[in-house]
Amino acid sequence: MTNANHSVPGVNTSGSTTITGCPVQADTHSLTAGPDGPIMLHDVHFVEQMAHFDRERVPERVVHAKGSGAFGEFEVTEDVSAYTKAVVFQPGTKTEMLARFSTVAGEQGSPDTWRDPRGFALKFYTTEGNLDIVGNNTPIFFIRDAIKFPHFIRSQKRRGASGLRDNTMQWDFWSLNPESAHQVTYLMGDRGIPATYREMNGYGSHTYMWINAEGEKFWVKYHFISRQGVRGLTNAEADKLAGIDADTHRRDLFEAIERGDFPQWDLYVQVIPFEEGFTYRYNIFDVTKVVSLKDYPRIKVGTFTLNKNPENYFAQIEQAAFDPSALVPGTGLSPDKMLLGRVFSYADTHRHRIGANYLQLPVNRPKNAPVNTYAADGPMAYDHNGDLPPYAPNSFDRPFADQQGVAEDSFGVSGDLVRRAQTIRSAEDDDFSQARDLLMNVFNDAQRDEFVQNVAGHIAGVSDEGVRERAFQYWAKIDQGISDRIRVAHAEIA
Ligand code: HEM
Repeated sequence: MTNANHSVPGVNTSGSTTITGCPVQADTHSLTAGPDGPIMLHDVHFVEQMAHFDRERVPERVVHAKGSGAFGEFEVTEDVSAYTKAVVFQPGTKTEMLARFSTVAGEQGSPDTWRDPRGFALKFYTTEGNLDIVGNNTPIFFIRDAIKFPHFIRSQKRRGASGLRDNTMQWDFWSLNPESAHQVTYLMGDRGIPATYREMNGYGSHTYMWINAEGEKFWVKYHFISRQGVRGLTNAEADKLAGIDADTHRRDLFEAIERGDFPQWDLYVQVIPFEEGFTYRYNIFDVTKVVSLKDYPRIKVGTFTLNKNPENYFAQIEQAAFDPSALVPGTGLSPDKMLLGRVFSYADTHRHRIGANYLQLPVNRPKNAPVNTYAADGPMAYDHNGDLPPYAPNSFDRPFADQQGVAEDSFGVSGDLVRRAQTIRSAEDDDFSQARDLLMNVFNDAQRDEFVQNVAGHIAGVSDEGVRERAFQYWAKIDQGISDRIRVAHAEIA
């Protein structure tokens, strides 16, 4: 045997193995019948390499496929124990964590700088199990009922025949679902394309529950405020970057952490007393609405720092699985219909995308909490319970849970089973008031000018006249003057 082709200084030819650990003869030449002959089927190393290569990808995420992540630590610097008993939020607690940021509609390999919300997914490896907060860089969302989510996403993805994304579908959906107005206003504004992942805030978006040691319940909204500041890109800057470096946000995050410039976010919560949550002037269980910071100011909790890049992107980021259903004692859900739909969807998609035992992978497993689950076996089972009884109740000392009565995180329900939107609680709790407030009172003149150009440019891609007209009407419901300006700007572009 020779290594003639690779006897180059600095090239290590001391060997590799098969997956079963057997030293292999060569990674450079397959076994053939003579130098010019066909490949032998019994070249088991070759066959193993090919077969494994053929299975090298898992399906990409159905949404949020393009993303980047890093590990870090969350430290609680304040005392919010009056509101939650969760260990992860107790004063001084430090918790290992993982963050993944993403675009929503683009596939793997799509440009990081498309106008789109950004995913802001966090996994805290707490001593009471994993807590995942799977939010976005916007405090609101396009729709308020989970049943619409697949339709919404399909309208943002690709056409059946051409395989192209299509502004007509996007505006058709948005204008037929006016609850989208607040989020579309946000998206078309100057925060619609973040300059980097480091320079954006994160929000839990939904209202969640916290429970303190006395069993008292509160509603909370999570806000992760970037210490790097918040900066957006203009369309022109984003389009240019998309061509030059489609991975610009991935590169920025990785390189910042490599050079020791660790990004940080401060966690604040808005806390709403339990009963007030049912009567506040906005329906706090409607994710298209924000809760006023004047009514419920932010309360600081602590800070997280991302200080470690993945060692392997596929194993630790592509296979990372975030579930809004991953909760810990002292935290809970709310009657938000989007949130309750998500609680099913994520674990379900992971079972399909990664496999039924996705929670046994090192990146997903609860690293700091013991597991005593009666879920067993299945493909790729690695953890097991030996010969312990695989059933409960049992007489052989394997613990099981047996609490009864009102659940600690109950939110109380009444009424008939119905199909209806959430209750509107006041005149300003409609589809347009908060969008109008953002556009007319929060944006300054320059931001409004940019917004008008962004919307007009986007509508220019709508091929159907009826849909285009409906889009102008949609903005007229927010502000007639803005709608007129969009119409004029559109006429200039078209
Ligand atoms: C009912 C509405 C929704 C449904 C059914 C839904 C479903 C999904 C699914 C199936 C995935 C892919 C997960 C994977 O394969 O790993 C995903 C990813 C994601 N979703 Fe949603 N989603 C919904 C709404 C939202 C909302 C409102 C937010 C933010 C507040 C959000 C944030 C995210 C994030 C950040 C990811 C990426 C997680 C990661 O980095 O792996 N989603 N969603």
